[in-house]
Amino acid sequence: MKIGLIGTGMLGNAVGLHLLQSGYQLTAFNRTVEKTNELKKNGAQIASSPKEVAENSDIVITVVKDANAVKQISFEKDGIIHGTHKDLIVCDMSTINPLESKKISDKFLQYNISKLDTPVMGGPNVAISGDLVMMASGNKNSFDKCKGLFDTIANRVFFLGENGTAHAVKLAMNLQITMLALALSEGITLTRGANVDPKIFLEILNSTYFKTGMSENKAFKMIQDKFDATFTLENLKKDINTISETSKSFGLELPMTKKAEEIYENAVKEGYGNLDYTGILAYLKKLNEKN
Ligand SMILES: NC(=O)c1ccc[n+]([C@@H]2O[C@H](COP(=O)([O-])OP(=O)(O)OC[C@H]3O[C@@H](n4cnc5c(N)ncnc54)[C@H](OP(=O)(O)O)[C@@H]3O)[C@@H](O)[C@H]2O)c1
Repeated sequence: MKIGLIGTGMLGNAVGLHLLQSGYQLTAFNRTVEKTNELKKNGAQIASSPKEVAENSDIVITVVKDANAVKQISFEKDGIIHGTHKDLIVCDMSTINPLESKKISDKFLQYNISKLDTPVMGGPNVAISGDLVMMASGNKNSFDKCKGLFDTIANRVFFLGENGTAHAVKLAMNLQITMLALALSEGITLTRGANVDPKIFLEILNSTYFKTGMSENKAFKMIQDKFDATFTLENLKKDINTISETSKSFGLELPMTKKAEEIYENAVKEGYGNLDYTGILAYLKKLNEKN
């Protein structure tokens, strides 16, 4: 099975490396060509357009920033639709608005391309060993054809039904990430305010029922001001904006999302966007220095 990969940012690059290590033939494209160098070194063919990726693949995985980027690589000049052929399946791993995702799937269908939604939980650190958690939605027959590939990429794969569904659930997942990062950051800030070593706060938290993977792992980097990105604060802000838009279109009121959106937007405005999303702690530190 020949696999195509469009978008070799932090997540796409790790997924691509794992597919090569697992023996798949891979053709990759990225708008900024330098970001394909590592995959090239590891045996990937590098294409000059999404069209060329589609022409050379049975299944194309897209992992780009947002819905606009997905539309550009799919439908614009030299996009995926221009390289279509019989039985092509597109799997979109980007985190995007579920309603946009549905529209994109419908447009692909006009070109006889089956498009699955395949957002994931977990970052490059787990993608490199095929340990992501995948949520999938779309045509079940196409899903069945791709299941072997998905089992290589992820250690759990959940099929959730019609197009759009997986992206809605993925947004609910990123809501957890948002609130956990904020709760940890405010807890650390409060502990520091009391002149207590935040390591103690983490040790106590991790002795309770309320501990999380984040409090057991990333939190120890956070208190050392280590914010090298595996998932940028800018991209989490993008996801909170998407959660906000999506909840509005569902007619829902999510008050904590509104507040979190304001905080993350201000952090990006103040220049924290390229840090890891847990860099929200650095923004809170700065905020409290001003007071
Ligand atoms: N990192 C994670 O832990 C993680 C986990 C789950 C889901 N995700 C989601 O996966 C997607 C990629 O995330 P990432 O962390 O890999 O982000 P990233 O490192 O910032 O990479 C973003 C990718 O999107 C491409 N892109 C952006 N705008 C584009 C456009 N208009 N046309 C074509 N390509 C465009 C970028 O190309 P250039 O290199 O040319 O800018 C790059 O390949 C996002 O939707 C993110 O929310 C990430």
